[in-house]
Amino acid sequence: MTPANQPTAIHQAPDDALVADSRERAVRALLCQPQLKRLWSAQLVGGVGDMLALLVLVVLVLQTAIAAGSFGGGYRGAALAVTAVFGARILATLLFGAVLLGPLTSLTSQDGPLDRRWTMIGADGLRAVLLVIAPLWIDWTPENALAILLVTAFVAGVAERLWTVCRESAAPALLPTPPPEGATVRPLPDHMDALRRLSLRTTFVALPLAGAALVVAALVNNLLGTGIDWFARHQAAFGSYVAAGLFAASLSVLTALELPGTRTPRARSPLEGLRRPRSGTATETGRTGAIPLLVLACAAVSGAVAATVAVAVLHAKDLGGGPVLFGLLVLVLTGGTVVGIRTAPKVLPALSRRRLLALAVAFTGVALLAAGLVPDVATVLLIVALAGIGAGIAANTGHTLLDQETEDQRRTRLTEHLHAVVRVSVALAALIAPLVAALIGPHRLESGKFVFAHGGAAFTLMLVGALLLPVAALVLAKADDRSGVPLRHDLRDALRGGDDPAQALAANGFFIALEGGDGAGKSTQATALAEWIRAKGHEVVVTREPGATPVGKRLRSILLDVSSAGLSHRAEALLYAADRAEHVDTVVRPALERGAVVISDRYIDSSVAYQGAGRDLSPTEIARISRWATDGLVPHLTVLLDVSPEAARERFTEAPDRLESEPAEFHERVRTGFLTLAAADPGRYLVVDAAQEPEAVTTVVRRRLDLMLPLSEAEVKAQEEARKAAEEEARRKAEEEAARKAEEERAEREREEMLARLRAEEEERKRRE
Ligand code: TYD
Repeated sequence: MTPANQPTAIHQAPDDALVADSRERAVRALLCQPQLKRLWSAQLVGGVGDMLALLVLVVLVLQTAIAAGSFGGGYRGAALAVTAVFGARILATLLFGAVLLGPLTSLTSQDGPLDRRWTMIGADGLRAVLLVIAPLWIDWTPENALAILLVTAFVAGVAERLWTVCRESAAPALLPTPPPEGATVRPLPDHMDALRRLSLRTTFVALPLAGAALVVAALVNNLLGTGIDWFARHQAAFGSYVAAGLFAASLSVLTALELPGTRTPRARSPLEGLRRPRSGTATETGRTGAIPLLVLACAAVSGAVAATVAVAVLHAKDLGGGPVLFGLLVLVLTGGTVVGIRTAPKVLPALSRRRLLALAVAFTGVALLAAGLVPDVATVLLIVALAGIGAGIAANTGHTLLDQETEDQRRTRLTEHLHAVVRVSVALAALIAPLVAALIGPHRLESGKFVFAHGGAAFTLMLVGALLLPVAALVLAKADDRSGVPLRHDLRDALRGGDDPAQALAANGFFIALEGGDGAGKSTQATALAEWIRAKGHEVVVTREPGATPVGKRLRSILLDVSSAGLSHRAEALLYAADRAEHVDTVVRPALERGAVVISDRYIDSSVAYQGAGRDLSPTEIARISRWATDGLVPHLTVLLDVSPEAARERFTEAPDRLESEPAEFHERVRTGFLTLAAADPGRYLVVDAAQEPEAVTTVVRRRLDLMLPLSEAEVKAQEEARKAAEEEARRKAEEEAARKAEEERAEREREEMLARLRAEEEERKRRE
């Protein structure tokens, strides 16, 4: 392709995307090589088998230890047994991956006695056999079963190392450039990089796949257990056979593999690059000095994931589950991690990556804390999945940031360093976590109704989660690239995803916008309304756009001066928005905050109508610019004074300005623009026919404001006084009524007494006669 055909590509993708894309293509290109694809398939299948074998051995050892009461029995014994499996595996990796790497490499080298392909086949075969018989030991020799299973874990680990050493030294020979006969292959760095990526990715996905395989196998096992008693007693048996089957599958793929007999670079130790690369210059700690912290963060989250996997079997048991739950925990955690790694670049893209790293680490920590605290299985699975996602996001983000810390040439060594540190942290965490669970043991606290019963695994999860929090705090404190900007602020913005500010009414005061074409009579109405509202006791601020502020005045003269004819439409839109931003910030908002009523002659709608509908710009874009300029402030009421452009033109008294001089069609479009806006939100608009007499227009607006305008302090006081006066009057009336009634009663009583007296006198008189 000639350079002339290329500019589109340059415009389309920013550098990072291009690089990521080319890396992706390089990885895919590798898989087009049939032999390399075969080797990779074997790696994937064998890798899943290896991880499944490890999980199955953990279950088998746990069950054996519990049945035999090994390591002192009880919870501690079980946790120590789990520690022992991871210990055996790590010992094998360390011994044969690092200490004995030299001899191992020479054995499997071009001139060595061991053929690489046959060694891999042998390692697969051996592991297949080991796993076929693994579930049987407990029946054959119950007292030795634990030791034999631990040896099995060790030997499987050694076989894995042998396999990997052979693969690592064989794979470069399969890379695209055909090597000259007999010479050492020196593959292109790009290819090596792609190979490393592919291998790393395969390792990553092997764990969730193994978790899924364990879940399925354990379910089948349970099903078989309902009919066959042996399976009911050996919960991990079927899983063990699936692992054996995977090794057999890997083996059969390898039999068809053709490896050229070429010299290749030697295999690498898992510890290679552990020492921080020294470059002699200040780049030792990175461009910004953040390398140690970034490595720490990556190591911490990786260790946390490993620790969780390591205590998962114990935690599953504490939650009342078996191998199915164990498999599910591993699946959701490591599956979550893979999802996190893949989605990290798309997570809150507007947020600083360093802040995202700190947040992701903290999120993982809080999730693990919660996972240890919650006793409900479904909730734990959900939380553990979230912890996995957080860890994946943190790991990927940390890695990306680390890449930025140094130049291309040093990057490979730095990546190596990171991977070595992560491997060590994973190994240590897998070893220490079950040990800690054993040390803590189960605890039960009871106080009244509240019962707090947790196993050592739950406490370990909480501890791991708690340990991540200071790491997050450290990253935020020491490596923050946005210090001074509150995190809350950044986060809110990032969550909004760079969208417009949310539209909102002012909490205080009352904001009225008067809109309409030129000559609609806005200023007349503004004055009349202001007078009326002031009379109600409100503070009223009458203002206008453009030109209500000192800067606005200068902008106004640029905008309306006929000499600015030909001003680009976008520049025009931005100048109006600039005037508005200054206006809202220095005039409108402060007045509203004081509680004033603000009447603005023109606001956002003028821009949407004139620059959007009138010109050839998009009204939505114009509205968005203004929303940004005003930080989303919307009027409580927009009064649209609607009048036909011809009628309005007759009212012009002065020479028309730049916009007034626009042709009639322009003003027609502006009018429709205003009406469209009003139709979209009738609640906030009042459309008035502005061809009427100004007094009639004011009356219509006043009627609406009567319903909407909050009462002024004076009105509130007057109403309060009126209420008090009415109460007083009512009280007075009630008192009068009471007095009148009392008087009537008294008169009645007197009358009755008089009658009684008369009656008595009458009787007396009669008696005397
Ligand atoms: P205005 O102050 O109403 O003009 P006058 O004082 O001459 O009546 O508005 C000035 C001009 O600016 C008017 O023609 C409309 C135009 N305008 C826009 O095009 N976009 C805008 O955002 C605003 C506020 C005004």
